[in-house]
Amino acid sequence: MAEPIPAQKSPYGIDVVAGQEYWWCACGRSKSQPFCDGSHRGTGLAPQGWTAAKTEKVWFCGCKSSASKPLCDGSHNRLR
Ligand code: FES
Ligand code: FES
Repeated sequence: MAEPIPAQKSPYGIDVVAGQEYWWCACGRSKSQPFCDGSHRGTGLAPQGWTAAKTEKVWFCGCKSSASKPLCDGSHNRLR
């Protein structure tokens, strides 16, 4: 299985809608960050589904190293 690669070393702020499901790119290869565009094919990695509880702005992890995937937990600050 391939390793996730950082799409960027900071989160993506996205306005989400309550009840809507989002497919976060876990592999880092999507051209439509932070969401999956199918580019994970062949990597053994898969997107992670996430449903918004509220209509609000959330911060999706761009570095793919968060311990609270798919959301940013600040882990990008520890990347070199
Ligand atoms: Fe990255 Fe689908 S393109 S998980
Ligand atoms: Fe990945 Fe913040 S962008 S933990």
